[in-house]
Amino acid sequence: MIEKYINQIIQGDCLDLFKKIPDNSIDMTFADPPFNLKKKYNSYKDSLEFKEYLDWCKKWISEMVRVTKPTGSILVHNIPKWLTYFAEIFK
Ligand SMILES: C[S@@+](CC[C@H](N)C(=O)[O-])C[C@H]1O[C@@H](n2cnc3c(N)ncnc32)[C@H](O)[C@@H]1O
Repeated sequence: MIEKYINQIIQGDCLDLFKKIPDNSIDMTFADPPFNLKKKYNSYKDSLEFKEYLDWCKKWISEMVRVTKPTGSILVHNIPKWLTYFAEIFK
């Protein structure tokens, strides 16, 4: 199942792609999401409402937790403002 994704770069909406990845199957997950700082991205609106942004982050963070092995590592790159909220999600 997971083998077909090894050494592949798969582009798409992370929440759609996560659906294809089994529980506890990944050794390390890394995310460098938009920081919701009104940065100009080609196809992404980086100015969500506070709750809307956090709710979206909760979804992909929960998926990172689901697919990462209990012995694995989860790395999330973001600014301190949001990382403090993320700490709550990881509790
Ligand atoms: C901070 S940038 C990543 C920069 C990249 N790591 C680099 O070093 O060049 C955040 C990226 O997340 C992408 N993005 C936004 N929503 C996404 C989603 N739902 N699924 C996957 N990527 C998304 C944006 O298009 C943007 O390219």
